[in-house]
Amino acid sequence: MNKIDQAKEYLLKNDIIGIPTETVYGLAASILSPKAIDKVFTIKERPSFDPLIVHVSSVQQAKEYTEYWDDRCEKLAQAFWPGPLTMILPKSDQISGKITAGLETVGIRMPKHDLTLELIKLLGHPIAAPSANKFSKTSPTTAEHVKKSFPNLFVLDGGPCLVGIESTIVGIHKNQIIIYRPGMISKDEIEEVLDTPVCYQESPVAPGHLQHHYMPNTPIITFDSNKKNELKSMCDPSHLKNPITWKLPSEAAIAARVLYGKFRSFDNERPSAILIEYDLEQLQDELFSGIFNRLQKASTFFI
Ligand code: TXA
Ligand code: MG
Repeated sequence: MNKIDQAKEYLLKNDIIGIPTETVYGLAASILSPKAIDKVFTIKERPSFDPLIVHVSSVQQAKEYTEYWDDRCEKLAQAFWPGPLTMILPKSDQISGKITAGLETVGIRMPKHDLTLELIKLLGHPIAAPSANKFSKTSPTTAEHVKKSFPNLFVLDGGPCLVGIESTIVGIHKNQIIIYRPGMISKDEIEEVLDTPVCYQESPVAPGHLQHHYMPNTPIITFDSNKKNELKSMCDPSHLKNPITWKLPSEAAIAARVLYGKFRSFDNERPSAILIEYDLEQLQDELFSGIFNRLQKASTFFI
């Protein structure tokens, strides 16, 4: 049996599996299996109030599983699917409240990965999947990363993820388009396609008010290259005993692709801290907004 058939068998038997996408690996369940959806929440240790994203293999399928689809949805789907954009839309009755954590909306996207698109087509219905990490930890960008967190899981190995951070999440509310989570599809690109201004619900730069997420075990200290001297006065001295320093790559697509793999490989070396150096121009560049959103949530200090 080939690996896609094998993956389908698991899903049909109410089991969960690891799936590749272009962003990060997902922990997947058939949307028709309440048992498997429960397993996703249990093994991920995810609170039941946090909804899952539904992955489709075509625009047509997205329309079948949503209650509302307008011109703006069509434009976004044509421009960015398959690709790293999730739309939050009113759900159809075929999507259970278990998947959406009781919400009347569903997060839906068509991932850009041949194996997963083929699997969804073969299955004949969508797959619900959060990122395949334990709740609040670093997302996986290779099949090996998934295996490390969930050794007994069947993982459909699709190679390393090319985008590297999670999808941009866009809510479509009457006359307003809101970006709930920045990603590698930028605000500028969305505004260009829709020809209308778009806002962020959560400020991408809010030092001091950080919700921790995506964190490895080693503390991350992210700092502006102009503020090197402030590191000593601002950090715990124990953090600076034996740190690893890494300069954020200058190209956003590369920085995103390698980010989570770096968190993991540095963590394995057990340094006192991971020091990530960035330039102010990067912080001000819209293309880096998703990357800084993750860095702020993953960092113990953001300077
Ligand atoms: O790139 C991605 O989006 C990856 C891959 C696997 O597709 N998935 C991912 O899923 O990052 P997850 O569950 O780790 O993050 C999805 C986020 C969650 O924070 C969840 O609260 C939000 O999407 N979300 C999902 N459905 C929603 C809804 N109906 N309304 C508001 N937020 C929603
Ligand atoms: Mg996640």
